[in-house]
Amino acid sequence: MQEKTYVMLKPDAVSNRHIGEIIARFERVGLNLERLELANVTPEQAAANYAEHEGKPFYEGLVKYITSGAVVKMVLSGEDAVVICRKLMGATNPKDAAPGTIRGDFGLVMDANVIHGSDSPESAQREIGIFFPDFS
Ligand code: RTP
Ligand code: MG
Repeated sequence: MQEKTYVMLKPDAVSNRHIGEIIARFERVGLNLERLELANVTPEQAAANYAEHEGKPFYEGLVKYITSGAVVKMVLSGEDAVVICRKLMGATNPKDAAPGTIRGDFGLVMDANVIHGSDSPESAQREIGIFFPDFS
């Protein structure tokens, strides 16, 4: 199914200068960039995006981390875009992420795991609304 997803390169990916290499992987499989922006995540956006994790032991650190430096926000579209992006990203913990996946190739620790991607079309719609409020 043709769909959209929200993907965000986290501060470690930006500071380590991996933006180009990572975006190239999404383009290589045939996904389309609909929006692309270098920006800082506001505390309000972080809280909205990670609402499901509020109260968990890692929540405070997660919000502090995602607001700590520039990120790359993007909307990608294409056939099964949500699942395809999650597959390219690899397991949440870089320790478990297979070589060849983005987290497997560019990450080392869970606290700085390179990339975020929506986990369902419903999450994608919600997250696109948080980070690109004027995107219809
Ligand atoms: P994301 O939302 O960033 O795409 O990652 P995900 O779906 O694979 O993982 P999720 O469960 O949504 O967790 C969101 C982010 O929280 C951090 N985390 N730390 N220390 C921990 O146990 C722990 N669990 C999650 C990770 O940075 C993860 O990407
Ligand atoms: Mg998630």
